[in-house]
Amino acid sequence: MIYLDNSATTFPKPDVVYDFMTDFYRKHGVNPGRSGFDAAIETEGVVWDTRKMLTSLFNGDDPNRLTFSYNASDSLNMILQGLAVSGDHVITTMLEHNSVLRPLYHLQMSKIIEVTYIPFDEHGYVNPDDFKKAIRNNTKMVVVNHCSNVIGTIQPLAEIGKICKESGVLFVVDCSQSAGVIPIDMKAMGIDVVVFTGHKCLMGPTGIGGSYVMEGVPVKITRFGGTGVKSAQKTHLEEYPYHLECGTLNIIGVAGLHAGLKWVLEQGIDRLHENEIKLWDKLRLGVQKIENVITYCAKSIENQNPVLSLNIKGFEAGDVGTMLDVDYNIACRTGLQCAPLVHTLLGTDKIHGTVRLSAGPFNTEEQIDFTIQAIEEIASIRREVVASSKTSGVNSL
Ligand SMILES: Cc1ncc(COP(=O)(O)O)c(C=O)c1O
Repeated sequence: MIYLDNSATTFPKPDVVYDFMTDFYRKHGVNPGRSGFDAAIETEGVVWDTRKMLTSLFNGDDPNRLTFSYNASDSLNMILQGLAVSGDHVITTMLEHNSVLRPLYHLQMSKIIEVTYIPFDEHGYVNPDDFKKAIRNNTKMVVVNHCSNVIGTIQPLAEIGKICKESGVLFVVDCSQSAGVIPIDMKAMGIDVVVFTGHKCLMGPTGIGGSYVMEGVPVKITRFGGTGVKSAQKTHLEEYPYHLECGTLNIIGVAGLHAGLKWVLEQGIDRLHENEIKLWDKLRLGVQKIENVITYCAKSIENQNPVLSLNIKGFEAGDVGTMLDVDYNIACRTGLQCAPLVHTLLGTDKIHGTVRLSAGPFNTEEQIDFTIQAIEEIASIRREVVASSKTSGVNSL
């Protein structure tokens, strides 16, 4: 299989991730933070180490404020519902994933908040000035997807963060697609909360994600339960990390994330990105030469992640995905990719979305050449059918 669905989850993971998870769970699969025996303390050590590595990745200060959850969707629910209060106004973008949109729709439909959706331009980028114009007296927060999971464009966080800081508005960033492949500096970019998922560019397994919340950001506790400490207390603990964590952590997930992030840092974030974007550029340039192939917001490698959305005129995206899978053993994702407003703005909502091809660290130039060839062959089917219908007088497409 040629795996070009790395935006959904990176696959495969580096061998060290599989090895470390197996070894760790055999030797340290015990509950951390609850007991004083050696294995529990060693397990807590890996958890703490992972908090520290992620805190430093985002340029936060306090590893306790790096909290773990199941995934980005889980943390976005806690953050957005924990920050919003009745009468708030929230600004977000049309690039968001349903992990942001649905919690906001829920709050909007419950008449708790009002939401403004900022569009992106023809190249796939939001304009920071639009946020400035949209800010009102009751604007509580701006929520932005750092990198689109449909078109791969990387948004100007520092400029938006500056506007938020000047206006006293909180800035929440969904870095599901960027953490591990694009640098994120919460302080330099004026970010109050980052939310990440472990199973994409951080190279961890599924079922682990989290957030980093800057000091003083008023996230209400929306989940209550066991923390392993202060068990006689009736209220959930205010202090971080307990503030946003309850119950036993996904220890094996944390271990895998630990190994994944370590691997990413050893490889170098910039080098990983450089290699992947080279593949994206080759793919983009290759398919853009093919008659009847339309690519979306794929202009240059500047501020871009290796995610390419395309369609072939005359075909449903889903059918192209099936042909790539069945005839060429190429794995991709088709449809709306959980980001419906991107398609509304591209106009691809009416044609059932796009074919999304997303490269990862283990793809090769040969795989990209093969994929370009596959798309050329699929596109040529239509050309042949159109040509034969012209000669036979039958309009079959
Ligand atoms: C931009 C973006 N945000 C959020 C998510 C949700 O991540 P998870 O499924 O790990 O919760 C995704 C997953 O595709 C994503 O691409």
